[in-house]
Amino acid sequence: MFRIYNGVKWMKIIICSAFCATIALCVYHNWVHAREVDMLEDSALKVHRKSRHYRDELSYQESITDGGPENLPGKMKTDENILDLEEAKKKIRELEMRIKQLEGSTTRRFPDVKFLNYRTRKRILITGGAGFVGSHLVDQLMMEGHEVIVVDNFFTGRKRNVEHWIGHENFELIHHDIVNPLFIEVDEIYHLASPASPQHYMFNPVKTIKTNTVGTINMLGLAKRVGARVLIASTSEVYGDPEVHPQPETYWGHVNPIGPRACYDEGKRVSESLSYAYAKQEKVQVRVARIFNTYGPRMHMNDGRVVSNFILQALRNEPITIYGHGEQTRSFQYVSDLVEGLVSLMASNYSMPVNLGNPVEYAIKDFAIKIRDLVGGNSHLIYSDAVEDDPQRRRPNITVARKQLNWQPKVSLQQGLKRTIDFFHKELLRSSHSNRNMFQPPEMSLDNAFPSEKVSKTVAN
Ligand SMILES: NC(=O)c1ccc[n+]([C@@H]2O[C@H](COP(=O)([O-])OP(=O)(O)OC[C@H]3O[C@@H](n4cnc5c(N)ncnc54)[C@H](O)[C@@H]3O)[C@@H](O)[C@H]2O)c1
Repeated sequence: MFRIYNGVKWMKIIICSAFCATIALCVYHNWVHAREVDMLEDSALKVHRKSRHYRDELSYQESITDGGPENLPGKMKTDENILDLEEAKKKIRELEMRIKQLEGSTTRRFPDVKFLNYRTRKRILITGGAGFVGSHLVDQLMMEGHEVIVVDNFFTGRKRNVEHWIGHENFELIHHDIVNPLFIEVDEIYHLASPASPQHYMFNPVKTIKTNTVGTINMLGLAKRVGARVLIASTSEVYGDPEVHPQPETYWGHVNPIGPRACYDEGKRVSESLSYAYAKQEKVQVRVARIFNTYGPRMHMNDGRVVSNFILQALRNEPITIYGHGEQTRSFQYVSDLVEGLVSLMASNYSMPVNLGNPVEYAIKDFAIKIRDLVGGNSHLIYSDAVEDDPQRRRPNITVARKQLNWQPKVSLQQGLKRTIDFFHKELLRSSHSNRNMFQPPEMSLDNAFPSEKVSKTVAN
């Protein structure tokens, strides 16, 4: 009996427990399900919100193209949205402008130079390369694809003359005085460093002599060390006030060794003597160019020489000053002709001095009238005392250049003067640093500018 009672009791306990467990399971299941539903609803709500946001964005964009934010329907017109988008657009515009500014200040555009490979490309040193003639030579050699190193102390030269090459991989500008030694590796040296106008070379005569003697020794020494060919820019002044006319290279000259011009004339004569001494003793390959009066763009405005004086006075409508009676003669070559002659001489096998100049001779007073007529002003001529030791006649005999280099000037005085007057005119109008020197390819556009006068027919001798 007792056993039966215990069995029923245990049965009740088991049934109760099972019932409770079932209820707990149901409650738990419902709770989990409800949570799942909540989460799903939550996500759906988020997706819904997101999609509404995107739709709003899309409508906003469309509304802008359709006529602006004022067309936004209802909520889309909210100030917050519009401000955010406007702010972002403003930022993008600012960044784009900044990128453009940075690109403008760093990216340089250079003239399109020829490509030479390592076999044909030369490393060329030009002393005085920031000067008038030197800078035109730089243009020519850069355009040909060579590596050009300019060395200049900027006594009469200017960075502005070569600024269009600064930053180019083939170009280097070194601020250096050639009276001090220079150690670099080069294949050719054009030695042009020296003041060239009386006003400049008389300013410091001792320095002029040093530049043409010590400086030339340094360049010849460099040529010897690296095996380079060197071209010396000599001058028609080595003929002094000549007794032979026109002057051939065989004429030894008529120079006053103690006069005011001696620092330059004798300096250049020593420069020539040094060249041939190095050629004989050290087997240095030398070329000597005796350069006659040269003119063109980038010449100094106030160097006191005939061309610059006359052009400036005519442009300012001032009287044109002639020193002496005006019957003394000069011949003038345009700078591109000279550059062509220098490059031909460097390339040639001829090692004796060569005259490079235009043999067309003008009396100074006729020259003054020609310039006045080209400028178109009313300047009249006035006469002043003659300059001491001023040569009376100057005209090159260019037979050697014709024969050895197949060279003769191409640019007529009319063509060259027009370009030079144009340059001086622009320089006079220049009022800020942003008026840059415009690069013009060598030998340029003379042909384009004056097609009917391409080659001077007046060249004689
Ligand atoms: N322009 C002419 O009519 C003419 C005529 C005959 C000879 N030349 C010769 O041609 C060469 C160039 O003449 P330019 O008319 O171009 O003259 P330039 O004065 O314009 O150029 C000479 C350059 O040499 C630089 N220089 C001078 N002394 C120097 C030194 N110690 N170290 C480094 N650089 C120095 C100057 O700063 C300048 O850039 C000169 O040797 C000159 O004697 C010129």
